[in-house]
Amino acid sequence: MKNGEKWLDIDGNPIEAHGGCRLYHEGKLYWYGEDRRGDNYVSCYVLEKNGWKFLNSVLTTNSKTQATRVVANLDLRKEISNGDKIRVIIERPKVVYNKKTKKFVMWMHYENGVDRQDACAAVATCDTPYGDFVYHGAFNPMGHHSRDCTLFEQNGKMYFISSARRNADLHVYLLQDDYLNVARLVNVLFSNEKREAPAFVEKDGKVLLITSGCTGWYPNQATFSVADSITGDFTVNENLGDETTYLSQSAFLYKNEKGEIVFFGDRWGGGDLLQTREFDYTKSGYCAYKVEFDGETAKLVYSDEAFC
Ligand code: DGJ
Repeated sequence: MKNGEKWLDIDGNPIEAHGGCRLYHEGKLYWYGEDRRGDNYVSCYVLEKNGWKFLNSVLTTNSKTQATRVVANLDLRKEISNGDKIRVIIERPKVVYNKKTKKFVMWMHYENGVDRQDACAAVATCDTPYGDFVYHGAFNPMGHHSRDCTLFEQNGKMYFISSARRNADLHVYLLQDDYLNVARLVNVLFSNEKREAPAFVEKDGKVLLITSGCTGWYPNQATFSVADSITGDFTVNENLGDETTYLSQSAFLYKNEKGEIVFFGDRWGGGDLLQTREFDYTKSGYCAYKVEFDGETAKLVYSDEAFC
């Protein structure tokens, strides 16, 4: 697969899984991401011997909703002034498994579909990795803005990380045991540095965090930062890759079977954004680049072929 291209699933259909995540569960590798076609919000694929197989649109405008103890907006469509109901915006879905509740829990970024001013986190759960997720609504964690986001587990604790205060700061929240709410704000990173698209990986006791700058859909300079613990002090951001992060924006980081770190990113608009200044979702492709990380310094290795 070529970096930047729109990859196809094993049935020959374009893969729609942007800003997403990967989940290993019981020997299978799942890939979730944004899907803006029709009624879909989040799609789920599984890796087979011959490529990615589409499993389900796990969150759609018609998903079941269910309130929890967290008071939240359960609308998966927004009623506008003429009475029409439009799609809301669901971005950067991340799915993890909660061993205690035996639920797959998805956290994501929610906007109301009109003005991108709600800046909410949203939560959904399911009994299987690829079933129809039940939506538990959108809310501002501890009253804060919550935009680009991710989940990260360290020492058996799960953390939700999201851009707050109009993207000026990056918040790290410890999640409650069932992962349905935030428990505590445990760190505020890069205050006033306006970082988004956070992606974490742990290697040999070091936490590597890669973020992008904040330029809408336009690619920009990624940076990396390192800490011993997600709750500890992170090093000063240093540049990673070139000024457009090789035409990509981070979605997630993961370790492949050889233990090598893979930077998985989106090439929004297929790279045409630079020329047309228009965002075309259907053209958006994927990039997978190798990350060399020695515990202190990270380097993004450019390649035409996807590194995965
Ligand atoms: C950049 C973010 O990383 C994307 O997920 C999306 O929210 C765009 N900004 C919207 O401008």
